[in-house]
Amino acid sequence: MSRPIRMALTKGRLEKDTVGLLEKIGFDCTAVREKGRKLILPVPDANLEVVLAKANDVITYVEHGVCDMGVVGKDTIMEMGGKFFELADLGFGKCKFALASKKGWDFYSGYGIKTIATKYPNVARKFFEKKGMDTEIIKIEGSVELAPLLELADGIVDIVETGTTLRENGLEVIEDVAPISARLIVNTVSLKMRQAELENLIEKIKNNL
Ligand code: PRP
Repeated sequence: MSRPIRMALTKGRLEKDTVGLLEKIGFDCTAVREKGRKLILPVPDANLEVVLAKANDVITYVEHGVCDMGVVGKDTIMEMGGKFFELADLGFGKCKFALASKKGWDFYSGYGIKTIATKYPNVARKFFEKKGMDTEIIKIEGSVELAPLLELADGIVDIVETGTTLRENGLEVIEDVAPISARLIVNTVSLKMRQAELENLIEKIKNNL
């Protein structure tokens, strides 16, 4: 038998939701659930192997074809881009990209160039380019909400899920940028070379969403 189909999962919440989905299909995910510190886990009987990686790396592994498919958030896809097929919206991991700033702040007022802090500079740049608005984008690695509070930035482009982080830090959404959810991505060559196997698995996934 050929090597198992390799599926890269974004560690954390998307991983858990995907394992739930694989179990719904009827696959035995005991090894993934009891993984300890292991990063490659077999899903016996399905000729499938689960690889646990950081979101950006899921795309890298799938693009290079060392993983045939992957589950990653639309946020990462929008920021990184890349050459792969995006074949399904898995419907979990739902949140959104939004532009936010200090509560009551009139973000669009004034003529000066606005400064935007974000973990997603490409997403932010495209959003403001579409508006024809010149901005200075500053890359931040996490807890982006700090930037307007410390007056480093006029606003942030960040992920909003429940809105709690914004609320508890005196910030509010100015405008939604894009909806986000988990996507199933597939390597373009794998889809040709292992078409029957992959299509069969993709079909099962879609039927169990
Ligand atoms: C994300 C995001 C927000 C928060 C939104 O951060 O960047 O800070 O979650 O969630 P909420 O709307 O439910 O409050 P994450 O927890 O990934 O950490 P980070 O800020 O360090 O990236």
